[in-house]
Amino acid sequence: MRKVRVGVLGARRGGSMIDYCKKADNAEVVAICDKEQYLLDIQKKNADGLDIAYYICFEDFIKHDMDAVVLANYANEHAPFAIKCLNAGKHVFSEVLPVQTMKEAVELIEAVEKSGLVYSYGENYCYMGANREMKRLYEEGKIGEFEYGEGEYIHNCEPIWPEITYGQKDHWRNNMYSTFYCTHSLGPIIHTTGLRPVSVVAFESTMNERNLRIGSKAGLFGVEIVTLENGGIVKSIHGGLYFNSIWYAIYGSKGHMESAREISRNGHMNKIFVQADNYSGEYSKPPVEEYDPNTKSSLDTSKFGHSGSDFYPMYYFIEKIKGDEKADTIDVYQALDMFLPGLLGYRSVLNGSTPVAIPNLRDKHERDKWRNDTSCTDPKVAGEMLLPTSLIGTPDIPDSVYESVKQKWEIKKEELKNK
Ligand SMILES: NC(=O)c1ccc[n+]([C@@H]2O[C@H](COP(=O)([O-])OP(=O)(O)OC[C@H]3O[C@@H](n4cnc5c(N)ncnc54)[C@H](O)[C@@H]3O)[C@@H](O)[C@H]2O)c1
Repeated sequence: MRKVRVGVLGARRGGSMIDYCKKADNAEVVAICDKEQYLLDIQKKNADGLDIAYYICFEDFIKHDMDAVVLANYANEHAPFAIKCLNAGKHVFSEVLPVQTMKEAVELIEAVEKSGLVYSYGENYCYMGANREMKRLYEEGKIGEFEYGEGEYIHNCEPIWPEITYGQKDHWRNNMYSTFYCTHSLGPIIHTTGLRPVSVVAFESTMNERNLRIGSKAGLFGVEIVTLENGGIVKSIHGGLYFNSIWYAIYGSKGHMESAREISRNGHMNKIFVQADNYSGEYSKPPVEEYDPNTKSSLDTSKFGHSGSDFYPMYYFIEKIKGDEKADTIDVYQALDMFLPGLLGYRSVLNGSTPVAIPNLRDKHERDKWRNDTSCTDPKVAGEMLLPTSLIGTPDIPDSVYESVKQKWEIKKEELKNK
């Protein structure tokens, strides 16, 4: 069968999906677009003899003869580009996050519904070894009904800030708010349980010198406490605490399971702990099962990034396009289930951490209220609904900070070009 022809917008993170297409037998990369010529030159150098077209301009790129587009452009610009791609008849794979505003959320859902095409959200953390295994176990009923869960994505980006913000004062990473980047921590719990969030209470940490010396205008980390439709509760924490940590735990009505914690139980997302009774009320205290979840998979994904998880979202996206209805993709509704707690959680933060209800945008009647809601921290999109980037307002960080970050980036950029 013919390979699915993929175009990739954004050649930084997009490199991972380009890599997928080069290794996969179900897809091929036919076009790459980035407004930075040096990134296109790097891709050309590594093209391995493949027939790939290169574009600086999105409007030219989207006319290319291809079946699907991967959006690895700016995290706050995915929705408008997704809508353009769907309207041009292309299936869409969107990097995180799905939208920037409630207005975009309604528009994106309606564009997907109208197109009848595949929209797939690339929340790769859902596919890390321990999370894939927790989903499998949850679905077979191992721990019973979901009651409580925790998701943690701690990433101190200070060492890499020059190479991910380039010294640009208005780069989305500098303008984002504390609860924006919430789907790496919350997403796996939503994907595992399939439950919809119904309300959120959120908190923002203080801003400290680590933010200010790199130019980030948000609180250092965000916490969302999310109530799910069955009454279960999730704590999601993400942001720049000092040492990195990725960790998930789920408690059910007859057991619990969690991934290893890097600091205390060497093994990270490639180790899982499970303890479950046969029925609720048995109290048999069964031994804790501890194993490497990757031993349950027939696929070797070790050559892919983020502990092999980068393989799965692309693989399922392509399989869904090819007609496999059961392919484990994240659709537009679940993408928003993962993100609205962060978007609306920020309103909770700004309102003194009071609860905010999360609408069910699957229901067409709930959409009208949000159609004109452009509240966000991006001045280009918010208009009169512009929000401050943190609880203490939008800090005025001196240009010299960005100049210093830019100088470090220029050195790194030369290294990348000469690799
Ligand atoms: N899932 C993950 O593990 C993971 C990891 C890193 C980044 N990301 C996501 O990937 C996306 C990209 O992040 P990044 O780290 O590559 O940095 P980035 O957001 O700075 O880079 C975006 C790239 O897209 C290009 N671009 C943006 N708009 C364009 C346009 N209109 N036309 C042409 N090119 C355009 C830029 O030149 C840049 O190279 C973000 O959404 C980010 O959240 C996800």
